[in-house]
Amino acid sequence: MTTSDAQDQSLYQRLGGYDAIAAATDDLLGRLQTDPRLKDFWKGASADNRRKARQLIVDYMVDAAGGPAFYVGRDMKRAHEGMRIDDEDWAVFMRPLPQRSTISACHRVSGMMCSASSRA
Ligand code: HEM
Repeated sequence: MTTSDAQDQSLYQRLGGYDAIAAATDDLLGRLQTDPRLKDFWKGASADNRRKARQLIVDYMVDAAGGPAFYVGRDMKRAHEGMRIDDEDWAVFMRPLPQRSTISACHRVSGMMCSASSRA
């Protein structure tokens, strides 16, 4: 693949498509739901609710990256309103992971989409 081929690809394609984005989302969620500081945000969520949130987050990422999904969930402000996610929570969430391009690119997508709107 030449440099110009790579530039022609959408972010979705460069990330490796649906399965790669779903795997990166599972990595992020695994961290969010087990981190000592962040796990209580998910306290009380049923397995079914967690599965639903996971699917919505995959759809959100795929949609935001220009892929073939249509995100039908709530906007970021409404979805996180009242949780009192503070700057320290956010810093923990964004703590750099091992340099794997899919994950760090998804971080860029999520940071771009959420830092402007999800502080509730
Ligand atoms: C510290 C950071 C974060 C925390 C603690 C957090 C926590 C949560 C929790 C607990 C839910 C479930 C809400 C419910 O069941 O009603 C949720 C839903 C969701 N989150 Fe986050 N989140 C964080 C960051 C993000 C980021 C960066 C994104 C963007 C990719 C994101 C996207 C979503 C989406 C799409 C949903 C589902 C919305 C819906 O139900 O309609 N979250 N989050």
